[in-house]
Amino acid sequence: MPSRRRSSFISFEVLFVLVALFSISHVTTLHAQEEEFALADYDSLKALFDEAHAAKEYDKALELGEKIAWLVGEKHFDMLYEMARISATKGEKLKAYNYLQAAADAGYWNAKQIMEDEAFLEYKGEERLRQVARAAWSNGYIWLLERDERDEFQMPDEVMKTLAFKKGETVADIGAGTGYFTLRIAEAVGPEGKVLAHDISDEMLDFLGKQVTAAQLENVELKKVERDDPLLPKGGVNTILMVDTIHYVKDRAAYGKKLLEGLAPGGRLIIIDFVPKPMSERPWGPPPEQQFPKEQLHDELAEAGFEVLEEHDFLPEQFIAIYQAR
Ligand SMILES: C[S@@+](CC[C@H](N)C(=O)[O-])C[C@H]1O[C@@H](n2cnc3c(N)ncnc32)[C@H](O)[C@@H]1O
Repeated sequence: MPSRRRSSFISFEVLFVLVALFSISHVTTLHAQEEEFALADYDSLKALFDEAHAAKEYDKALELGEKIAWLVGEKHFDMLYEMARISATKGEKLKAYNYLQAAADAGYWNAKQIMEDEAFLEYKGEERLRQVARAAWSNGYIWLLERDERDEFQMPDEVMKTLAFKKGETVADIGAGTGYFTLRIAEAVGPEGKVLAHDISDEMLDFLGKQVTAAQLENVELKKVERDDPLLPKGGVNTILMVDTIHYVKDRAAYGKKLLEGLAPGGRLIIIDFVPKPMSERPWGPPPEQQFPKEQLHDELAEAGFEVLEEHDFLPEQFIAIYQAR
């Protein structure tokens, strides 16, 4: 009896494996066919879509748009954006918002375009438009901080070598953003050290949280902070780092006092920020009203009780200034 049960079990296993093998090969073939179909058909479908759109045949354009979005996958945010515009033009607000949201979720980044697009003129002042524009803004900001070319002027290896973080120290990365430096510092201080990654933006903290999880780092603590308060534990931090962030702070002398309260005895404050340049020379980075020479920062932080310890000028766009309590 036991052996008969065993043999029928084996035949079920064999049957299961055969069915599974058939399904896998069938699905693989289908995928390959879909991909080929996608590559072959995209251009012609896109041409038909443009034609229908130009001719104001909106239903046809939407139908073609759905096909294209399906063919190229969710990443095709420009198409989703166009479909939002068409839906808005047809007076289908709910659909328009859903497409806009899908475009933002897929990476659409041009918040200014959303706010100024005449297709969405009627929605101006609506909370949902503001939310979707904010999501697009954060996509653009994340891209700016994470883009590959940043390494060319940011020179992260040289910066990390110069800042020489020590194993076991507690570092506060204020205005941590996407974690460009946070992750590097977390490695440098090791599991016995800690990084307090503070930021005012939910979107940045969300993104950074995912990065930290993906990198399996257990020594990074995220915190949402106030514009005028870094919310540091009193005397609890060995090094405070602010990269491209202090130019957002309005009263830097008052802010500096709060930074000083967070520093442990012998601690240091490191500021990396943009050297002032006209927009004609550097069309990105902080606007002119947020730029200042480092000497001005030295004076503001002197008011807070800091003195300059070191300065480094090897970065092409930014200065590095290291301070200690006076
Ligand atoms: C230009 S990004 C730099 C991000 C990061 N330090 C880097 O080097 O990639 C500035 C970051 O500072 C945050 N921020 C702006 N003002 C802030 C403030 N007063 N306190 C804390 N974070 C702030 C922004 O949300 C943004 O994530």
